[in-house]
Amino acid sequence: MCGIVGYIGHNEAYPILIKGLKRLEYRGYDSAGVALINNDGGLNVYKAKGKVADLESYCEDKDKTGSAGIAHTRWATHGEPNSANAHPHYSASGRLALIHNGIIENYMTLKENLVERGIVFKSVTDTEVLVQLIEHIMLSNNIELLEAVQVALHQVIGAYAIAILDRNHPDTIVCARQSSPLVVGLGKEGDYYLGSDASPIAEYTDRVIYLNDGDIAVMRLGEELKVVNMDNETQHPKVKQIDITLGQLEKGGYPYFMIKEIFEQPACMRDCMRGRINVDADRITLSAVIDYRERLVTARRIIIVACGTSWHAGLIGKQLIESMCRIPVEVEYASEFRYRDPVIMPDDVVIAISQSGETADTLAAIELARQAGAFVFGVCNAIGASIPRQTQTGVYIHVGPEIGVASTKAFTGQVTVLSMLALSIAREKKTIDDETYKHMVAELTLIPDKMEEALKTNEQIERLASIFTYAKNCLYLGRGYNYPVALEGALKLKEISYIHAEGYPAAEMKHGPIALIDSEMPVFVIATRDKLYEKIISNIQEVRARGGRVTALVTRGDTQIQQFADHVIELPDTQECFQPLIASIPLQLLAYHIAVCKGKDVDRPRNLAKSVTVE
Ligand code: G6P
Repeated sequence: MCGIVGYIGHNEAYPILIKGLKRLEYRGYDSAGVALINNDGGLNVYKAKGKVADLESYCEDKDKTGSAGIAHTRWATHGEPNSANAHPHYSASGRLALIHNGIIENYMTLKENLVERGIVFKSVTDTEVLVQLIEHIMLSNNIELLEAVQVALHQVIGAYAIAILDRNHPDTIVCARQSSPLVVGLGKEGDYYLGSDASPIAEYTDRVIYLNDGDIAVMRLGEELKVVNMDNETQHPKVKQIDITLGQLEKGGYPYFMIKEIFEQPACMRDCMRGRINVDADRITLSAVIDYRERLVTARRIIIVACGTSWHAGLIGKQLIESMCRIPVEVEYASEFRYRDPVIMPDDVVIAISQSGETADTLAAIELARQAGAFVFGVCNAIGASIPRQTQTGVYIHVGPEIGVASTKAFTGQVTVLSMLALSIAREKKTIDDETYKHMVAELTLIPDKMEEALKTNEQIERLASIFTYAKNCLYLGRGYNYPVALEGALKLKEISYIHAEGYPAAEMKHGPIALIDSEMPVFVIATRDKLYEKIISNIQEVRARGGRVTALVTRGDTQIQQFADHVIELPDTQECFQPLIASIPLQLLAYHIAVCKGKDVDRPRNLAKSVTVE
């Protein structure tokens, strides 16, 4: 959601900024813009509605020179997506240009004050208030940009990552962060790069600084990075080494990131387990469980907070932890939890699951849990993001950057980590016997191979997909561990093909959704062989009896369901609790191929953002 890129150095800024914006496209946006200080000291701002490519076309005949610049992709919150509301925003005199991610909550009050002083606004955004406020403070107190930013931010309530260019100081970018991520890249010859995450920076340098809330950084060419807070106290954020390869940021021959990421899952899962499951595949070692053994083992209750796909992973985590560790688990939408006045006790463990590590609602839920004295554990993908920094401990899923907006490999990575976590706690609590533990660990290590098998259904699913292109509604049914798989399958389809889809526990269907079933309604049933197999067969019969068209995911060799399903997709067998890791794959492929058949922009679905940094 919104992307920030900045560069100041010895090279032309424009190509670096545009490339950076493209790297951030996955976050979701609806307009883009760039500001450059040219070689004559002029500050040029160019903006366009639509994609970065539209901005490039708009800029074709413009002056794009200059080695200092900031650029932005905007996901509209205040004001429609058009070029006036796109960032950067000029200050009234045209001396400053500013870009912003986040929301300024008290912008109306601030704006009224500035309008009374005669400042004319050119957009309806909350962001423009910031640049007008900063310039107003600068000019009325005759102070420089950094000091004006410090004074201004004292008056601002809200979330922000901002970057500002000052025409009078073409060698400097000032940026600041509060509840919205910002990463500074340290280039070789004193050059600086800026990004909302490391992806626009990674190809230039592996040395980065993740700014903390309250930090204001001054990037001045050739000088050491200066980081202070609003009260001008020097801060000392650490330089971190990042480990992102260019290959991870590019499509590697696939037409879309999403399909690349679906196919990466076996390798990602091996990466996720590497160093955590020993070579004999009979023991899991998670340092977070070793370091905080007592806290985890004595937890009276676990509360999982998450949003979207991560919430679905949480539902699987609940079943894993309850069945193996015998600890009660609640799974909460972070957005509901934070405003519900929930009962949180000091002996609760709160597990926050988030791919991006920046989801605003999940961060707020963490804060609430911490204030109530609970122990907070993070399951995250993005290294160095806010959630891993605000939780007491946690486990990274290590699946590499996920660029497709619809989450795939992060989901299976989260489920893999939750499986390892449940097994580790269960062993410490002795709620699982040695033999079962070893058997399950060994099975977990076989899952990547089985995922490879599941990926072989790709061609069959591609053929099937065209049949469903014209569906208006779809129903996904599953039971037990496969119920969250049904929810996730339906979410994937909704997100990228814009077909309405619902996931339901199969037995609940008769309490409502059954009324919707007719020959127009595709029904996808996850009917792998487990203890509820016979029950789900009855549910399939209920659908068939009403003329519904059933596509069933079955365990390889199943001959029973074949007799009455319209289509079957065969999957390798595994233990029931690991089935979601396999069964999710054909549903990801199905959503992908249906969306491709419908000609949708699979990686950048309309209205969605990858990293939801506003509530
Ligand atoms: C957005 C994304 C989803 C994601 C959700 C939670 O809605 O489009 O793919 O599942 O946010 O994000 P998180 O980064 O916290 O897992």
